[in-house]
Amino acid sequence: MAFISFTFVLSLILVVTLSSAQLRVNFYSRTCPTAEFIVLNAVVTAVRSDPTMAAALLRIHYHDCFVQGCDGSILIAKTGSERDSPSHAGLRGFEVIENAKTTLEAMCPGVVSCSDIVALAARDSIVVSNGPNYQVPTGRRDGRVSAKADASNMPDAADPIQVLKKKFSEKGLSVTDLVLLSAAHTIGTTACFFLENRLYNFPPRGGADPSINPRFLPELQGICPKNGDVNVRLGLDRGSQFAFDKNFLDNVRQGFAVLQTDAELYQDVSTKAIVDSYFGFLSGLLGPNFNGDFVKSMVKMGQIGVKTGTDGVIRKNCSVLD
Ligand code: HEM
Ligand SMILES: *[C@@H]1O[C@H](CO)[C@@H](O)[C@H](O)[C@H]1NC(C)=O
Repeated sequence: MAFISFTFVLSLILVVTLSSAQLRVNFYSRTCPTAEFIVLNAVVTAVRSDPTMAAALLRIHYHDCFVQGCDGSILIAKTGSERDSPSHAGLRGFEVIENAKTTLEAMCPGVVSCSDIVALAARDSIVVSNGPNYQVPTGRRDGRVSAKADASNMPDAADPIQVLKKKFSEKGLSVTDLVLLSAAHTIGTTACFFLENRLYNFPPRGGADPSINPRFLPELQGICPKNGDVNVRLGLDRGSQFAFDKNFLDNVRQGFAVLQTDAELYQDVSTKAIVDSYFGFLSGLLGPNFNGDFVKSMVKMGQIGVKTGTDGVIRKNCSVLD
């Protein structure tokens, strides 16, 4: 009897410590009931005046999570911080996070973390792009470190598929997660900068990446001419850059992927099979469901290296380290 109650108490302690170290849905329901609404409102307002903002906000969450965990370290605006790294080139939309934070600090000072705002804004960006809605586990706390050097291991636009798999696996993400999360490129744009080598100097022989559909190549080269303006932007999901949909994966299948890394998803046996599974006979019904699986991978990405409980801080200003 004494033994039973001892193990019972032990497991109780274990459950309590485990759950305090975990995120949970509606974390702010009592401490700041309007938190999620305030973030949604900031996202809707931003996307209404600039429809490209949804993609920008989704991307911030990914870049936040892959360096130092999802802890808002990407938001720090200081020389030498993460944001200074070329691995984060083109990130934008930070002012939307700031706007939400300003409202939140007025409503519930010191309660809602910047990293949670980023995670919620990513979800809301998917929703306003007609993608799936889902519940975001919250309770992240913000990091106290943001260093340029920490970003050097981000996946790179020229990484071979094996390297991408390795970098994702180091974050606890599977090959399936790699395919699904890459499909976030169903919205948004890239600068021609990231296509230069793919269009004109593709290794080992130079010239264009042979995996580009011959019908697509002249189109890409027209938008991004050799030695042209590398800041010109084009949609990552040809024909559907504002809608969150499966069209991106279809483009990958047809040789219409814009980024080299997205094209690679169809050149590797295991990732190809995953892409194809969303177009199978049963897909969506009994087979794999793109929206549902994407959400699972997003929630998983949102847990990378999170700080909870008494770890980290709740920043007052998302751009400034406490
Ligand atoms: C597999 C590794 C990945 C690589 C190599 C990669 C690379 C890139 C590159 C080069 C751009 C263009 C940046 C610019 O010119 O501004 C981009 C944009 C974007 N990425 Fe990724 N990415 C990866 C994974 C992800 C993941 C996991 C997500 C989110 C879950 C994501 C979301 C986005 C979004 C939404 C954009 C569009 C941003 C905008 O329109 O401003 N990416 N990515
Ligand atoms: C947050 O800090 C940044 C950088 O110092 C500053 O520009 C901004 O005005 C601050 N925001 C608020 C709401 O104080």
